[in-house]
Amino acid sequence: MKRIKAILSEKPGHDVVVKGWVRTKRGNKNVAFIALNDGSTINNIQVVCDLAKFDEELMKQITTGACLSVKGPLVESIGSGQAVEVQAAEIEVLGTADPDSYPLQKKGHSMEFLREIAHLRPRTNTFGAVLRIRHAMAFAIHKFFNDKGFVYLHTPLITGSDCEGAGEMFQVTTMDLNDIPRKEDGSIDFEKDFFGRQTALTVSGQLEGELGATALGEIYTFGPTFRAENSNTPRHLAEFWMVEPEMAFYEVDDLMDLEEEFIKYLVQYALDNCRDDLAFLNKMIDPELIDRLKSVISTEFVRLTYTEAIDILEKSGQKFEFPIYWGVDLQSEHERYLVEKHFGKPVILTDYPKDIKAFYMKQNDDGKTVRGTDVLFPKIGEIIGGSERESSLEKLERRIEELKMDTTNLWWYIDTRRFGTCPHSGFGLGFERLLLFVTGMSNIRDVIPFPRTPKSAEF
Ligand code: 4AD
Ligand code: MG
Repeated sequence: MKRIKAILSEKPGHDVVVKGWVRTKRGNKNVAFIALNDGSTINNIQVVCDLAKFDEELMKQITTGACLSVKGPLVESIGSGQAVEVQAAEIEVLGTADPDSYPLQKKGHSMEFLREIAHLRPRTNTFGAVLRIRHAMAFAIHKFFNDKGFVYLHTPLITGSDCEGAGEMFQVTTMDLNDIPRKEDGSIDFEKDFFGRQTALTVSGQLEGELGATALGEIYTFGPTFRAENSNTPRHLAEFWMVEPEMAFYEVDDLMDLEEEFIKYLVQYALDNCRDDLAFLNKMIDPELIDRLKSVISTEFVRLTYTEAIDILEKSGQKFEFPIYWGVDLQSEHERYLVEKHFGKPVILTDYPKDIKAFYMKQNDDGKTVRGTDVLFPKIGEIIGGSERESSLEKLERRIEELKMDTTNLWWYIDTRRFGTCPHSGFGLGFERLLLFVTGMSNIRDVIPFPRTPKSAEF
């Protein structure tokens, strides 16, 4: 089976078979022009039908959304817009699409409406482009790490530990919710549950990733992660994909170098390999898209401490919704001010107050800050969260105690600091946040095929 993408670049003069879905049909009494798309490329192939050769009933079935198989010679096209077209000799309608009920007619639909028909939206130009770019970025991620010798480690999705300590986990249980087993004191008896303990869907593969890094040296995990945070924003999903590399012997500067190199590689890969789709999105969605992608590659990211950032924000004279003072967690309005207004390029922020960051981050000597690094991007805000990890057993245990965390579930993690501990670092890139940047789409629900958000798990 040859796909339309390949056929469009062939020389004319031979018979071809094309199969795909009708985007449009137009024409006159004598001839019909059908634009056919099979998802292999944003570009349609034009099928020309001499109406004298085809049955009227058959032609009536050819409406937007119908699926066709067409055989005929590939010929040079005299119309503008394409080099070749198919002169239909045989047409088979594989599946009709009733024009009265098929929701994807020619006119442009709103993103909100398309979310309601997420089962069909991959057939639109925009979502076709986004999903092909999503694939290309996933492939490039594996290529980047494979070329560097990183090992792809599969970390578990069901876990008993809360990596980020935010308590935003989806519980996993087979207990009968109408008849929950209880202990004598009335508390839930998780020993009777499937795993004999309380479990949840993972918020991050990092903790197990660190086990891999302290054995294999350089690993990455890339898979779905889950957060039960009730955030209805254009940048949060309850189920999203995260790329998490973890590297032994990396200190925070090595970490930031890798973060910057990684994102630039992915953006360059998109520019090199997704030209047609990016050109389409640049035309239809965001006229500054390609310029923005190019500018990220050619610029050096700013590296700045949290304390310096607070200083800039305090002196900005800007009215923020959330007040600014040392110790506060930065909101996306603050991050975007720094990136879009103040510097005009990506920023890597470091040395955050320890109280707003997770327990595993390496503590600085000042006793107040930790070696966390957030990469902040135009239009997106935080795209990467990472850190050098605390490698001292004593400091890690003290921090866990301060935070009153339950160590029974973390004994295996703490063992890495007990046996052959080493400096190491890692980060997590939100895959859909990257895709927002690379596609120019403005809502995270539109860069994943079937989004999961609060009160929404259709399809
Ligand atoms: O900053 P986060 O919470 O960091 C971690 O989970 C670390 N354990 C990663 C590591 O060091 N291995 O999440 C990492 C990234 C964020 O920067 C953001 O891009 C993305 O994951 N992210 C989300 N993306 C979509 N929806 C959400 N609800 C997200 N929460 C985080
Ligand atoms: Mg973060």
